Amino acid sequence: MPFIKWTEDLSVGVAELDSQHKSLIDLANALYDSINNGNDREILGKALDRLLDYIAFHFGSEESLFQKYGFPYERTHKREHDQFSWRVLDMRGRWNRGEDLQISEVQDFLSDWIQNHILHSDKEYAGFFKSKGVR
Ligand SMILES: [Fe+2]
Ligand SMILES: [Fe+2]
Repeated sequence: MPFIKWTEDLSVGVAELDSQHKSLIDLANALYDSINNGNDREILGKALDRLLDYIAFHFGSEESLFQKYGFPYERTHKREHDQFSWRVLDMRGRWNRGEDLQISEVQDFLSDWIQNHILHSDKEYAGFFKSKGVR
C-alpha cells in the first residue's frame, strides 16, 4: 500500500506540475517500499538515486516557471527546495557510508515534507500561475 497518495486537494492547477508531483510521490513510495521490503542495499540505493534525480528535475521545472513569470516568492520557495535536496543528499551520503535508513525517517521527513510542501508552498503559486494563464 502506498504511504503517500496523490489526491485532488494536492492539485496546483498546472497539469504538467500535477503530473510531476504524482511521479515524485510514486518514487517516494518506491523508496518506502524498498526499505520495508528488507532494505536491500542495491535496490534502495537505486531508489534514492531516482528520487534525487527526479527532485532536481521537478524543482528545476518549478523554478524556471517562477523565473519566466516573475513569481514574487521565488527566493523563499527555492530555499525550501534547496534544504530538502540537501537532506535527501545527506540520506544518500549516509547510505553510501554504510548506514541503514530508518523507516521512521523516511516516513516523518519525506512523506511530511512532500505533502506539506505541495499543500502549502506549491499551492501558493497556484493562484499566481492561474492569473498568468498557465495551465
Ligand atoms: Fe512541487
Ligand atoms: Fe515547490
